[in-house]
Amino acid sequence: MQHNYSLQPYNTFGIDAKAKYFSRFSSVEELELNLKHYANEPLLVLGGGSNVLFTQNFDGLVLLNCITGIEVSDDDDEFIYIKVGAGENWHQFVMHCLANNWAGLENLSLIPGSVGASPMQNIGAYGVEIKDVFHSLNAFCIANGEIHTFDNHKCQFGYRESIFKRALKNQYVILDVTFRLSKKANLRTSYGAIQQELFSKGITTPSIQDISAAVIAIRQSKLPDPKALGNAGSFFKNPVVSKQRFEALQQQYPDIAHFLISDTEVKLAAGWLIEKAGLKGFRMGPCGVHDKQALVLVNHGSSTGQQILDLSTHIIEKIKVQFGVSLEREVNIIPPHENII
Ligand code: FAD
Ligand code: EPU
Repeated sequence: MQHNYSLQPYNTFGIDAKAKYFSRFSSVEELELNLKHYANEPLLVLGGGSNVLFTQNFDGLVLLNCITGIEVSDDDDEFIYIKVGAGENWHQFVMHCLANNWAGLENLSLIPGSVGASPMQNIGAYGVEIKDVFHSLNAFCIANGEIHTFDNHKCQFGYRESIFKRALKNQYVILDVTFRLSKKANLRTSYGAIQQELFSKGITTPSIQDISAAVIAIRQSKLPDPKALGNAGSFFKNPVVSKQRFEALQQQYPDIAHFLISDTEVKLAAGWLIEKAGLKGFRMGPCGVHDKQALVLVNHGSSTGQQILDLSTHIIEKIKVQFGVSLEREVNIIPPHENII
């Protein structure tokens, strides 16, 4: 147990916030022990710290999830079921699956963070979300110490959403996740950038390893490496608007980037809106908007979390004024701020 401990190495924004208490757990028993000793302290379970923004010191207990282990729990003619400890690194797990020719996660290569956090916001990239390959998870109920199993339906997955971000927020610690992967690949190459990348390499019959390599190349071309430039990936969600609202915007901005998601709703590209508002590469003190991907906010070195939060508020206001569209933050603000827009 560490006291007054810097969280700088444990969050990809590189914010120098301190935890009143900090410890790790590698088993349910260790988790229980920590919770028993610090029962009255606010709790934060941390994986890779790649989707959090600390705006001040954390006045409570931060527990780093270090539960490891990857095992085949079942298999049939079509599928293989892999149970993974929540503290395993996501990308290394994806690489392990590719090495074994287990298909389904290739589009989700190079996403930072832990396996345990992946269901929290139903991570997604390049046409796949984890709900597409998720079987179940086991989670520790903080209130009564019981372990509960959640299947796909119970998790209530949505776009960057799950029940753990809503009705059950801060009530469970995810211990392990089981994925249902395919023995025979079902490639998802509909995302334009993947097709272009494969084409440029002259690949006409791609393997899952080729898809993974293409995704990695695309990501490296625009997303900053947190080791070099602090960030937490997309800071905002892509906003969903009504078809009427979209058509009005399209009249004014014929090249507006968008994806139809139903007969009545359209998802706009927040990165496009931010770029169009002239904010790509914009700097506000020691933080700013990434110059290669406007949806990513970056810490140029010595930013505080509050400065990055203020920058995000500035962007939300600008986008609201110019397009009448409300952006919602994707990154978890810690502690949660009730009264920010
Ligand atoms: P943390 O930041 O440690 O935690 C996130 C939240 O989950 C916190 O509220 C934390 O309390 C909670 N939590 C973590 N572990 C547990 C647990 N075991 N039990 C209960 N609660 C827990 N995301 C995408 O979806 N798609 C992308 O393409 C993508 N690209 C990214 C690119 C970059 C460069 C970066 C920095 C981030 C990107 N992200 C992306 C965001 C991030 O990688 C994911 O959200 C990831 O799943 C976060 O994992 P983590 O372990 O770092 O979570
Ligand atoms: N765009 C711009 N300018 C920018 C950025 C994007 O015009 O500065 C346009 C692009 O040209 C494209 C569209 O916006 O037409 C979409 O851009 P991109 O393909 O880069 O994806 P995104 O919508 O910005 C989302 C996810 C990412 C995920 C990628 C790939 C969200 C909030 N973000 O980004 O997830 O990796 O798609 O699937 O849904 C994350 O969640 O942290 C994350 C990085």
